[in-house]
Amino acid sequence: MCGIIGYTGFRPAAPLILDGLQRLEYRGYDSAGIGLLDPSREFELHRSVGRVTSLRESFDLEKSTSHTGIGHTRWATHGKVSTENAHPHKSHYGHFLLVHNGVVENFKKIKNFLLEHGYSFYSETDTEVLVNLIEFHYRQGQVAELANFLQATQKALQDIQGTYGIAVLCRDFPDRLLAAKNSSPLLIGIGEQEYIVASDAAAIVPYTSRVVYLQDREIAFISHDELDIYTLQTKKTSITTHLIDWSPEEAQRGRYEHYMLKEIHEQPQVIANTMRGHISDDLSTTHFGGIAALLTQFHRLDRIVFCACGSAWHACLEAEYLIEHYARIPVEVEYASEFRYRNAPLSKNTLIAVVSQSGETLDTLEALLEARRKGYSVIGITNVVGSSIARETDAGVYQHAGPEIGVASTKAFTSQLCITAMLAIYLGRLRQMDYTDGTAFIQALQELPKKIEETLLLEAQISEIAQRYHHYEQFLFLGRQTMYPIALEAALKLKEIAYIQAQGYPIAEMKHGPIALVSEHCPSFVLETQAAIFPKTLSNIQEIRARHGKVILVTTSDIPSEDMEVEERITIPRTHHALQPILATIPVQFFAYHMALLRHCDVDKPRNLAKSVTVE
Ligand code: M6R
Repeated sequence: MCGIIGYTGFRPAAPLILDGLQRLEYRGYDSAGIGLLDPSREFELHRSVGRVTSLRESFDLEKSTSHTGIGHTRWATHGKVSTENAHPHKSHYGHFLLVHNGVVENFKKIKNFLLEHGYSFYSETDTEVLVNLIEFHYRQGQVAELANFLQATQKALQDIQGTYGIAVLCRDFPDRLLAAKNSSPLLIGIGEQEYIVASDAAAIVPYTSRVVYLQDREIAFISHDELDIYTLQTKKTSITTHLIDWSPEEAQRGRYEHYMLKEIHEQPQVIANTMRGHISDDLSTTHFGGIAALLTQFHRLDRIVFCACGSAWHACLEAEYLIEHYARIPVEVEYASEFRYRNAPLSKNTLIAVVSQSGETLDTLEALLEARRKGYSVIGITNVVGSSIARETDAGVYQHAGPEIGVASTKAFTSQLCITAMLAIYLGRLRQMDYTDGTAFIQALQELPKKIEETLLLEAQISEIAQRYHHYEQFLFLGRQTMYPIALEAALKLKEIAYIQAQGYPIAEMKHGPIALVSEHCPSFVLETQAAIFPKTLSNIQEIRARHGKVILVTTSDIPSEDMEVEERITIPRTHHALQPILATIPVQFFAYHMALLRHCDVDKPRNLAKSVTVE
């Protein structure tokens, strides 16, 4: 995800900004840039694709005399990975430099307006629109008046819809830095005769622990020795400062002990980001700009074959349940590593869909290439913009989950579940699903981040459960229909980070074999959220208990299981059927995490595993 740093103060700006960019590297990025404003009112701009180290090598730090500057690490969203698309962006007449995190949703309209007023654009980004809009307002006012810098920014931010964290320099004021935010984090570190603006505390804590957290639609107007905060209309009279008590190392993970835990807790925001831009204006369906070109084919489709590995494969299995149910299109799910050598017979109107968080998994990439070799259209669902899979597919959907650092996939998995649910509704609405059912889904989708927040509150209960169970060496995870892929995912999580033998199974299949494992030494997780089939699940639970197996039940509050004898009951919020698997995933993520912690395992870097598996 993108990172911002800005500086004005007594130190040379360039080394501090480059150091800050390196501290933001852990968030993942594909290009970086730095903009400096020297006392003679000249901008110095350096941008490059790749690592911050190459940016550092691209200019002579010793020669830089600037004490004010901004820097950015970009994780591509609007426009490919390229030097032109990297930030900072300069305005048409050269008055402003700007770095931006977030999305300007109405950028096309504003771009057209600016084009009509003689502005030119050199990148594919939405950001360039914003820097030019500020300049447009600046040129309408009294140029070179300090207040005009602020007012032009206020006006521009009033005009735009979307999210932003920005840092801006104006050539006419070499010791001024402006920062503003809306739904994108930004804080200001306060030093002696210096201020540091950053999107992440990691870039600030080496210099100061005193910070101001900028609030949404606030603007910080900063000089070497003065910080004022404005709303989009007026000046604020009081500023609240906070003390950060984390080490620089801790700051990267925030208050979380591990990236995995941080990433679990990020899921409300991740799901909001994943769904952004995919909801139709009439709130009755989803849409996917990236695959719109294949739209006509969707009407003719007679089969979709999903290919993936690991957790992504589990997300595909969920897609099978949902797409078949809502769109009545037959779906098959293949392990990518099997598909590429299997030579499966496929009909002409088959669409291949590959799913991969990293976009670099070699088995998935090879399955994709094999499908294309045979002339099939391939769509991709990936989290990493510009990854090999994103480049090789005919069309695709980005997850926008942000960089996932923990080896165990958490937020990327639930964001894949979100996309597959949205795809099922999209395809359903193209076929037989009616308007009312579509609106019910969209309403549930919009409420989902809130429900994820509620589900995250279960962590304390699950950590206590883990205390009682961390000495067990084997587990069963059992679920029916849409809960079956989550049972598989739960077993995978426990295996990979807590090194516990765990098996996921469709619950009714248990009696055809795995029941032989059930004993007082093998507890079972049962995932069940459908009231209509709960009596069946109850029988399965009784079969486990009759063999002295302990049961941990994950269910919803509307299912009347209070009187049932289970050792533990974890109650998640009720949501739409297509989205319930997302909420059911969170308790099992927490369970694996706390079990691994209690067993002293390296949560973020489990043994023998790599984040991105680029070998066969
Ligand atoms: O990057 P991908 O989604 O293609 O990765 C696929 C698997 O390697 C990945 O999901 C793996 O199973 C994770 N460690 C699961 O937590």
